[in-house]
Amino acid sequence: MKIIACYSNKGGVGKTASSVNVAYGLAKAGQRVLLCDLDPQGASGFYFRVKPSKKLTDDRFFTDVKRFTSAIRGSDFDNLDILPANMTFRDFDVFLSRMKNSRSRLKKALKSVDSDYDVVLLDCPPNISTLSENIFRSADAILVPVIPTTLSERTFEQLLEFFAEQELPQKKIMGFFSMVQGTKKLHAETMEGMRKAYPKRLLDVAIPFSTEVEKMGVHRAPVATFARSGAAAKAYDALCQTVQKRL
Ligand SMILES: Nc1ncnc2c1ncn2[C@@H]1O[C@H](COP(=O)(O)OP(=O)(O)OP(=O)(O)O)[C@@H](O)[C@H]1O
Ligand SMILES: [Mg+2]
Repeated sequence: MKIIACYSNKGGVGKTASSVNVAYGLAKAGQRVLLCDLDPQGASGFYFRVKPSKKLTDDRFFTDVKRFTSAIRGSDFDNLDILPANMTFRDFDVFLSRMKNSRSRLKKALKSVDSDYDVVLLDCPPNISTLSENIFRSADAILVPVIPTTLSERTFEQLLEFFAEQELPQKKIMGFFSMVQGTKKLHAETMEGMRKAYPKRLLDVAIPFSTEVEKMGVHRAPVATFARSGAAAKAYDALCQTVQKRL
């Protein structure tokens, strides 16, 4: 079982959009996928029409294997299950701070589904916390959406620095450009500059800014289910294929 985190220390960059579309794409390609919503906002569960989990309150996410597995829900799609979030997930850091081996607790919790899935995708909340250290340690790959602007470049740098300071393997980090607007000169320049600066840390994938992605909220489904031949669906397809090759 491979663990892929959709993570950024910056908010609103496309983590949930990529989690949902990559989870769908990998499941369509025949992988058994669990999408685990770690963000108390519960957006990826919403997109898949799955209600928040009432069972996983307090620290049970990390301590109660039975409740963890019974909180998993099926989706409308073959090979794709969802572990929905709830508001108590906002207290993950508090729960983790009380536990022994607090930085490897997520890995332990996910071990309980090791034989049930080929891929676990983690839709992560935007910060650097004890939870994110758990994510960095448990994930085989960390997909980082980067909007090609100066501030996003800065947060990407901060993430790489954090990995260096903590002696975490930077090779797990797979950045890709998100919400790219072809008409913006700044986007083109930033992408060119970043590709030169971080050739090994950026995938050759760019998700375009597209109203089709925004419409996921209306359809409550992945882009490819309602705009199959559009630019966004094609870009997410390319992202899935690149990730599969890398893993
Ligand atoms: N490629 C895209 N084109 C246009 N809009 C997009 C695209 N990707 C995401 N969006 C929109 O931008 C907003 C933020 O996207 P998303 O929720 O995926 O980001 P996030 O990184 O998960 O945010 P958060 O940090 O709040 O969890 C959403 O309204 C989404 O519909
Ligand atoms: Mg999100």
